[in-house]
Amino acid sequence: MCSIIGIIGKNLVAPELVDSLRRMEYRGYDSVGLATLSINKISVRKGIGNVSQVNKSLSLAEMEGFVGIGHTRWATHGGVTDYNAHPHSCCTNDIAVVHNGIVENYLPLKDELSKKGHRFKSETDTEVIAHLLEEHYNANKDIKAAIIETVKRIEGSFAFVAMFANGSLACARLDEPLVIGISDNAFYASSDVLGFLKYTDQAMFLDNRDIAILDKHGINIFTFDGDSTARGVTKVAWELADVNKGEFAHYTIKEIFEQRTSIKAATYQEEYKIKAFCDAIASAGNIIVTGSGSSYHTSLIMSMIGSRLLKKRFDPVMASEFKYNNDSIDKDTVLIAISQSGETADVLSATKLAKALGAKILSIVNVPTSSLARTADASLGINCGPEIGVAATKSFTGQVSLAYAILDRMSGGKIGFDREVVSDRITKMLADSTGIERLVNITMPKVNDIYLLGRSIHFPIVLEGALKMKELAYVHAEGIAAGELKHGPLALMDKNAVVFVLNPDDKTYGDTLSSAYEVKARGAKIIGISNVPNEIYDAMIPIPRMENELLYPLVEIVPLQLFSYYLALQHNADQDFPRNLAKSVTVR
Ligand code: F6R
Repeated sequence: MCSIIGIIGKNLVAPELVDSLRRMEYRGYDSVGLATLSINKISVRKGIGNVSQVNKSLSLAEMEGFVGIGHTRWATHGGVTDYNAHPHSCCTNDIAVVHNGIVENYLPLKDELSKKGHRFKSETDTEVIAHLLEEHYNANKDIKAAIIETVKRIEGSFAFVAMFANGSLACARLDEPLVIGISDNAFYASSDVLGFLKYTDQAMFLDNRDIAILDKHGINIFTFDGDSTARGVTKVAWELADVNKGEFAHYTIKEIFEQRTSIKAATYQEEYKIKAFCDAIASAGNIIVTGSGSSYHTSLIMSMIGSRLLKKRFDPVMASEFKYNNDSIDKDTVLIAISQSGETADVLSATKLAKALGAKILSIVNVPTSSLARTADASLGINCGPEIGVAATKSFTGQVSLAYAILDRMSGGKIGFDREVVSDRITKMLADSTGIERLVNITMPKVNDIYLLGRSIHFPIVLEGALKMKELAYVHAEGIAAGELKHGPLALMDKNAVVFVLNPDDKTYGDTLSSAYEVKARGAKIIGISNVPNEIYDAMIPIPRMENELLYPLVEIVPLQLFSYYLALQHNADQDFPRNLAKSVTVR
């Protein structure tokens, strides 16, 4: 959930370190720090805040040195304090470390190292890495040996970059991403290609259990066992570097508007790839679809439609529940793993487990260079470009569009997903979003509880809509299968509740309208999302009529995203980087 960057360059590295951290800030953002090496001395500056704030207060970009490391932190162990911010140094300050992941056994290690005389300055798990490296490096002044001995001792997941006072950067990864960038002027070690893509498109993806030692002469790669190895250099698409807000105030609203085209981009697939993907599903006896958060909501939609149209069971399983719920996995199983980042720890651990049980792994991913895309047996990209806003928007609709394209192909066109038509309708809805902004400003100032009701294919969208409201506007919001209302949630309805009903005129219409009457009778305000007006709605958000009811999710989620964004503005919440959240959840 943190981002790490290390640079060895021919020029001063601090400005690039700061710029790289800014580009990766989506990964975590409660504190920031840099360490640079100048005249054989390591200096560290770190503090609470986002990259711009800490850079301003500590002048990070002005630090001296041609070698450096940087970090944005998303706290897991130890509070959000200046001391707990990375980099962390060993006792002599000759080694500084930035880390992403969790050292699960840090308490016994800290205890052991303290008894040997090491002095700890923070409450973090990461600091043990700096002291372990120091302990082993002092034994024989051999960086390779020190790092091998260190990784042997760490339980958990990690990607770290350690800067040594002799000018070397030593990196290692286990279940967390780490990629090396190579330019004429510098070597980079980064959590994400976005960390260096502005400077070079030449990337070397480290495998799990790889160690890389970088110095001004070159890069040496070893396995955790110490065997020399090599990793190929991949040319990464430059368009990934496009992470500007353009004409928009925030990434999130920009990304909501990008859906005009991104739902189309998701469905442009190379024929041989989509064929292999569909063939694998068609020949599987057992199909499981997994993901986390919004990607899990796509799993629900894909499973519902797949089971209905292909007369084959698709079972959705939340990635975080997978380890408790995998008894049916065997060689006849296909696991479809859906993820924007392709780095979500729960998703990667589900795929690892399923693979070990003999399943074939298919993935639907946005980041083509991610661990999930690279380790799946077959992978399709949703091609929506970098999604920087922490709340998934265009990646969600991209996933849903691709799921439609796959299932349409497999069912002989039973969904009838026409990307041009749907994109056109979304474009028109976005062009007329002022009604939603007005609705937020007029009816929402004091709202504390929002409920969303929907049945069948609308159910995953009530979950997704509620998730957007929670994370963007920090408002309690709950998605409820409308038929479940009378089994409990009705007790919550009173004049303070605001209830969205997802109710186009498909076969759920009459039943959902009855649910709306039930909540209206308890005094709740009703906002209808529908293509047909009804007097019961206190306010209505119109959506276009869709030829096939299975297509409604795409036009229902857009107004809910907009509503959440405007509500976030009204609540002064951070529209792009909500508190306590990170874009890439790389810890379990
Ligand atoms: C919601 C959101 C998260 C992610 C979840 C999975 O807006 O962004 O719930 O959907 O953390 O992330 P990926 O799709 O990267 O695996």
